[in-house]
Amino acid sequence: MGTVTITINGQKVSAHAGQTVLEAARGAGIDIPTLCHHPALAPAGACRVCLVEVSGQRTLQPACTFPATERMEVQTESAKVVAARRFVLELIFSERNHFCMTCPMSGDCQLQELGYRYGLDHWVYPTYEHRFAVDASPAHHLLDHNRCVLCRRCVRACAELVGNHTLDLRQRGAQTMLCADMDVPLAESTCVGCGTCVEVCPTGALIEKRSAFMARPAELERIATTCSQCSLGCGLNVAMHRGQVLRLESLWEAPVNRGLLCRRGRFEALEDHRPRILAPMLNDGGERLPVSWEKALAEAAARLQATDPLRLGLMASTRMTNEALMLAKKIFLDTLNAGQRGMVDGVCATFPTAERGRLADLCASDAILLAGTDPSADQPVAAFLIKRAVDRGARLITAGKRPGELAAFAEMHVVPRQLEVAVDALLAAARPMVVYGSGLKKADRRTLQRLAGRARFLALQPGVNTRTASAVDVNGTLEPTGCDTLFVIAGEENGTMEALAAGIDRRSFVIAQACYDSPLAARADLLLPMATWLERSGTLTNTEGSLCRAHAALPPSGQSRPDWDILGRLAETLGLEDDPGLKRPERRTRRTP
Ligand code: SF4
Ligand code: SF4
Ligand code: SF4
Ligand code: FES
Repeated sequence: MGTVTITINGQKVSAHAGQTVLEAARGAGIDIPTLCHHPALAPAGACRVCLVEVSGQRTLQPACTFPATERMEVQTESAKVVAARRFVLELIFSERNHFCMTCPMSGDCQLQELGYRYGLDHWVYPTYEHRFAVDASPAHHLLDHNRCVLCRRCVRACAELVGNHTLDLRQRGAQTMLCADMDVPLAESTCVGCGTCVEVCPTGALIEKRSAFMARPAELERIATTCSQCSLGCGLNVAMHRGQVLRLESLWEAPVNRGLLCRRGRFEALEDHRPRILAPMLNDGGERLPVSWEKALAEAAARLQATDPLRLGLMASTRMTNEALMLAKKIFLDTLNAGQRGMVDGVCATFPTAERGRLADLCASDAILLAGTDPSADQPVAAFLIKRAVDRGARLITAGKRPGELAAFAEMHVVPRQLEVAVDALLAAARPMVVYGSGLKKADRRTLQRLAGRARFLALQPGVNTRTASAVDVNGTLEPTGCDTLFVIAGEENGTMEALAAGIDRRSFVIAQACYDSPLAARADLLLPMATWLERSGTLTNTEGSLCRAHAALPPSGQSRPDWDILGRLAETLGLEDDPGLKRPERRTRRTP
């Protein structure tokens, strides 16, 4: 890629050919104010706040869309530029409600910041007095039209990043309004509630309900970690205020998801109100008695050692960290030779001879076959990437007994007996990709095998760390009825515990390492309290094989401990403390600015 040299405010600046004046300036550390621009979105040139003087141009030009060309001379803060910016800001402030005192974004609003920067201390034009209704219909966020500056960041984010195209502007001039679909309330629209629009809005027009008015940005601390709600392992920031989690935010530099989060990852992950298990407990004739960690671990070790290996079972959550899974392998497979083992939520078989696909490949693919999985429900950020690929012209074919949500975006939906048709379509593509999940049947797998060597295959596994669990051989089939002692690492899965508990032989001694109370915890003879995903550090290997780092944002509640810490202490109690495989992670916290 060639470079060009331009002069900004008298300073020579190098830029890649094709970069805008704004990108060149920011690359050289020169600040040009913006409002409608967002680095994750294509430039729109909608607000004119970034106007600059460019040599040879009759009028001022928006730096965010104007290309930098060789020997160009640019002035970013000349008297003419400052006057034009003030004029633009006076017009924006004259419309709608920009009384900052009562706005939840005051102190974190780009418009307010520009007002201070350019000394706007009074209204030059009559203010627009019409009041618009607030759309508070979504579960987790609201849209206050009165604070909207029509920058279209939200419209572009919904289309370009989420591939959802819910938002747009209607009417023109002073009547222009943001709207969802055919102007329906957001809760009745095609909005999937991911909150990406909220994240990019520069004002208080789109705000999260939970954290509104709770804290000023200067008081926040952000800790980067990994979402554990599905197998993608999206990177995110935990915004903390005085030791409490305020909200979950996009981490734009996260390599897996590049700032995208779904409704579950951004909002619902903080809505788990199940009662926690806060101390080790022994079940004494139906009564749970709190015991010390030493006593609990000694009891667990004695039970495990006294059990016939063939009748010893390990049931592991696929939300465990890599460190915990390595320890589980060391204890249960290498030392105790547990004859039975399995995962709480299963695994989907892979195609060993096929080239492995990654999430980023979806964006470059020209034909995608989706089989045995519904990412809209299970891995929503993958669904966003698939919709983006369709926007760029990729063919999408969905396969399954019933069409999932993405079938609406597909060129065709085939039932399993028509899978050959989909395979033929993919064979004709240049960069085909198969995205599949645990719903794929054996016969379908045989049919898809024809694409090995031609297509990339991306497995959407059920859990955030299913890959490592499979790699350390915890993926056997477990029949809990055949165990004298069953050690269950229950993680935070919801809804599976009842069936699991019902399947356990009533004579089995059950040791459960768990975060929350559940039918399984009620059935357990010994309970070991475990820290949640927000309370533990470690690493995870997501469904595409990327190593994702988790950093504790909160200390473990009560006497609970991180998954790897419990297993490490159990290993020590079993006399394995000198084993080199027992290295445990430090408590690490990665703060982002
Ligand atoms: S809601 Fe926010 S992001 Fe959307 S147009 Fe209005 S100000 Fe811009
Ligand atoms: S929440 Fe997500 S889907 Fe809904 S309008 Fe915003 S960006 Fe679009
Ligand atoms: S797609 Fe999965 S990993 Fe990503 S934010 Fe949603 S639940 Fe979390
Ligand atoms: S930031 Fe350039 S026009 Fe809005």
